[in-house]
Parts: sequence; structure tokens; C-alpha cells
Amino acid sequence: MLIRMDETSSTNSELKQLQQKKRLPEGSIVVADYQTQGRGQAGNTWFSDKGCNLLFSFLAYPKFIAANRQFILSRIVSLAIKKVLDRYFDDITIKWPNDIYWKNKKIAGMLIENTLMGQKINSSIIGIGLNVNQDGFPNELPNPVSMKMVTGNEYNRDDLLSFFLSEFNLLYQSLQNGDDEKVIESEYMRNLYRRDDYHWYEDKEGRYKGKIIDVLPSGHLIVETLKAKEERIYAFKEVTFVL
Ligand code: BTN
Repeated sequence: MLIRMDETSSTNSELKQLQQKKRLPEGSIVVADYQTQGRGQAGNTWFSDKGCNLLFSFLAYPKFIAANRQFILSRIVSLAIKKVLDRYFDDITIKWPNDIYWKNKKIAGMLIENTLMGQKINSSIIGIGLNVNQDGFPNELPNPVSMKMVTGNEYNRDDLLSFFLSEFNLLYQSLQNGDDEKVIESEYMRNLYRRDDYHWYEDKEGRYKGKIIDVLPSGHLIVETLKAKEERIYAFKEVTFVL
């Protein structure tokens, strides 16, 4: 089921409301040209001009994924977006935990909202915002970029959506088949933003230079400090990448 909307508050919220009315099949999608209350991570707003970008949410029932390993979903969504963008230009990386970067700029983000049943995921609404044909963004946003700003070309959003869904389905099926998650975890690590070398980070103790060591199955990030060579472990929002 694919629902196209000219305008909605948020495709994640729309899909959630539809799901509350009746059980929807796995893979149901809501795509919108414009969101009046597009939602980002941690209560942020997701800005996108009308008709420019790809804004969609789809439904999965990954009941085979344990609640304490739900970060694997973020890994496969990130890898699928990266695989789509790799068709068009280089320098796409995955910024932990949920962003896709072109060089030092954010080109896509995701908002994954899971419901749990016992120790397993019951349903998952996976919302993605990919900046496609927008020419510029409000100054108050930290570092956004679109595909058009990278290459000067315009892109067909339906093509991008169908490329994404086929990449995602391949990865999702491999998870469903019980293939070794380590393959996905290491592919994620290889494509991580700031994978190598020391960079500036900031946590509650202040700024420091450190190097990413690993991302755990739980989704925690491990950074080693340059000075003390101590490993610090972070949940979402506990560390900032100083740009
Ligand atoms: C982030 O990087 O903060 C996450 C951004 C997620 C934005 C997408 S746009 C489609 C879907 N609907 C929403 O309200 N949010 C997600």
C-alpha cells in the first residue's frame, strides 16, 4: 500500500494514525510533498520545502529483532540510503547514530519509531527525509545539503524511493533469514563518518580529541580519547561531533 499526500503533519505520525485504525500490511508507505510538522531526532523539526525532497515513512514488523538489538534497523536503513546515493556521487558516509552525510554536511536523516512486545520489536515506523532538489536551506540549520546542491542536477524522487526500497529489502531479508549480523555491522563501520583518525568531540566533561573505536550492537558509540587513551561509551545525545 502506497499513500501519496500533497501535505500532512508528518509522514511518521500519519502512518501511526492509520496503523491505529486498522492493521496495515508490512511495507505500507506514506509519501508526502510537504510536512507541516516534520519531526527529527530528539524532538527537532525537519525542514523541507514543498515538493523538493523525498519525505516518506514505511511500516515493518521486525518481530525477529530483539529489543536490545534494535539499532540493527538503523544500520540497514543507513546502508540502504548510502547505497542509493553512491549511484550518484562519492563521499557519502553514515554519521552515528542516524544521519547520512556528504562530506561534512547532512543530506538525509531518519526517525525510526518502534513498538515493543516483550523482548522483541513488534512494529517499526521508519521515516526518512532525503534532501533531493532543494536549492538552499534556512541559515539557522547547522549543515544541510541536498543532492542538487552537490551536483547541480535534479533527481526524480520516485526513482530514489524505489532504489531505496530495493536496497532496504535486500538487507532486511538477510536479517530475516538469520544471516550473520556481523556482516552488516562491519559494513556499517567501514562506511562510518570519521571512521579514522582523531577528531573533536564534546561530552558533559567538555571538548576533547578522540577516535571512534566501535559502535556496539546496542547502538552505543565508543570513542577513545587522544590524551588519556581512555574509552568513553555513549548513548544517543551524550556526545556531540564538533564540526
Ligand atoms: C533527523 O535527522 O533528525 C531525522 C529526520 C527524519 C525526517 C523524516 S521526513 C519523513 C519522516 N516524517 C517525519 O516527520 N520525520 C521523518
